[in-house]
Formats: sequence, structure tokens, C-alpha cells
Amino acid sequence: MSAARILLYCRAGFEKECAQEISAVAAEMGVEGFDDMGAELGRNLEFRRLVFPRQMVRASELLALPEVDRVTPIVAAARALGRRFAALWIEMPDTNDGKSLSTLTKPLTPHLERALAKAGIAIDDAKAAERLHVFFVGGRACHVGVSDVGNSSRWPMGIARLRMPSGSPSRSTLKLAEALLEFLDEEERAKRLAPGMTAADLGASPGGWTWQLVQRELMVTAVDNGAIDPRLLETGQVKHRRDDGFHYRPAEPIDWMVCDMVESPSKIARLASRWIAEGWCRDTIFNLKLPMKKRWEEVGRCREIIDTELGGAGYYLRMKHLYHDREEVTAYLARRQREPLHSKRNVKEKP
Ligand SMILES: C[S@@+](CC[C@H](N)C(=O)[O-])C[C@H]1O[C@@H](n2cnc3c(N)ncnc32)[C@H](O)[C@@H]1O
Repeated sequence: MSAARILLYCRAGFEKECAQEISAVAAEMGVEGFDDMGAELGRNLEFRRLVFPRQMVRASELLALPEVDRVTPIVAAARALGRRFAALWIEMPDTNDGKSLSTLTKPLTPHLERALAKAGIAIDDAKAAERLHVFFVGGRACHVGVSDVGNSSRWPMGIARLRMPSGSPSRSTLKLAEALLEFLDEEERAKRLAPGMTAADLGASPGGWTWQLVQRELMVTAVDNGAIDPRLLETGQVKHRRDDGFHYRPAEPIDWMVCDMVESPSKIARLASRWIAEGWCRDTIFNLKLPMKKRWEEVGRCREIIDTELGGAGYYLRMKHLYHDREEVTAYLARRQREPLHSKRNVKEKP
């Protein structure tokens, strides 16, 4: 038993986009027939550069589980993958059927933990480079696999579980909260999103995104013809401008532009590129509302627009289908050092 496959989790309904993306990235890396090369691909892909996958696990083939004793085959599969893991994550698809499996996995977990300990497998080694995943696809089958702690989602099931803050005027606030966690590490947040910095929020009403920035003590211009929650205006940190987000320009360069306007993705991608190209802001986070069909192609089109607008200059772009996104992806575009494309680096040629 080996981890010869890549298991990617995504939002239900986005399996096609996930497959299209991984095929495109494999081709970019020069890997063909990636079914056989799942393990190598899984080691060389950079998770954070993928848009649609929520989690990336190198996994075994589907393991059939006898009803009488599910634990023994899982422990045997785990032992084939290693002895020391940072965590044990028992997971299932994020669907109603998947969730119903928790009636099985909850009582199973303590038995599995005891059996792993008895087999000499650690699942709480803070220094271990990998986590152990047991991903149930039904009561009688699961994948057993591993994720690299430094190259995967830090959230079980790839789901950023964030509490809805009571003071925020809208649930959309969770999108920006997740984006800031996803795209910036703690050090970057401290440096690039510091108290006293300035921001524009385009399409701000009723103010969920503005609320996130206000919490971080930024000074915000909230641009929208719609109303902004008066509690935000009372903070003294928010100015409301009833203006068109496509026409608004800051009087002088600011630190951030965030944008949640419901508009065509290519128009938003062009707008965000312009803000960076003209130096109106340094960092930007924006939502790209995807069409029902050809969602992967639309992501590619937006990337091309950004590259056409900014190709000559250094820019940094990441896009992610966040847990709090539905028919949309969230992008982070900044004036900072660019990353190279996925490379074949250590992928071995097919024997
Ligand atoms: C999804 S809502 C934004 C929610 C907001 N981010 C929050 O957290 O509360 C989209 C907003 O974009 C605004 N909008 C759409 N087109 C706009 C434009 N051209 N200029 C300014 N605002 C626009 C709408 O009025 C609407 O309030």
C-alpha cells in the first residue's frame, strides 16, 4: 500500500474545475499520464497556488472496510505510510451524505486512536512533517493518506471554520476574513495590514468587508451607492462615498483596495490591475463572480487580463475558491515579488 494518488477536496459542484485545474498544472509541469504519477505530483505541487482544491492529500487506493472491524485495515494502511504524524484527521466529503458519516466516525475515532498508539504510530508529534488523513467516502470505504504540514490546508476538511463576528453588518465579512488568513501569513498581516493604514472598499454596502478593515484599525473609504451600517460610520475610521466603484480614485496612493462588486469578472480583473499599475494601492483583494459554465476558463481569462496589464511590472497574484465563496473565487494581487510558475523541479520522468 502506498500513497500513489492525489486526493483533492473541493466544494461540491466544482469537481470538474478541480480536475481541469490539476490537468492544466500537470501539463504545465510537463507531467503526462498523471494518474500514475500522483505521488510525485502531490509532492511537487504547491497547494497554495491551486485555485479550486481545498485540500491536497497523497492517498492510497480506496480501502474496503469490513463492517465488523474497520480499524485494523486503516491501521495497516497508516503503518505503510509512516510512524510519526503531526495529527490524525478523520474526514468525509462536505455534502449532506458525507456529513451523515459522522455518526460512524465519531464513535470510531477513539478506537482508531488507541489502535494506532498500540501499533506504535504517533499522531501528535509537533515536529512531524506530515498529517495522517482517513477520508471516508461511505461506511465501507475510505482513503488513507498524508498531507505535508507546510504544503496543504491547515484546516480539517480544508474548511476554514470562522465564527461570525456579532458586530459585522453582513456575513460577507467572513470572505474577507478568510482571504486575509489565506493570502497573508501572520508576519505579512502585521506588516502589510497595520493600524493607521488606508483602504478603499469598492461595493462596500452594508459594510462587512469594511468592518474587517476597521477591526484592524485601518482608515477606510467605503464606496457604494447603498447604505453603510451607521455603527461603522460612528467609529470615525470610515468615510462613505456614494460613487461608482469603477470611477472612484483615491486622492493620493493608499495601502489597500478591496472589491466585492457584483460585476463581470474580466471587468473586475481589469479594474484591480489598473489600481496596481497606476500605483493607487499596493495590495488588493477582490472577488471574481464566476459564470455558471466555463468557470475554469474564466479564471484563466482573468489571469491573462492581469498579465497583459501588469506583465512588465513585478506583481504577485493568487486566487482561491475559499470556503466562504460560492459561485466566485477570491484573488489577491499586489505589487511585490512575483513567483515562478509551477515547475517540474523534482518530478521524475516516467520510467
Ligand atoms: C455583495 S455586495 C457587497 C457586500 C459587502 N462586501 C459586505 O461585506 O457587506 C455588492 C455591493 O456592490 C455594490 N455595487 C455594485 N456595482 C457597483 C458599482 N459599480 N459601484 C459601487 N458599488 C457597486 C452594490 O451596491 C452592493 O452593495
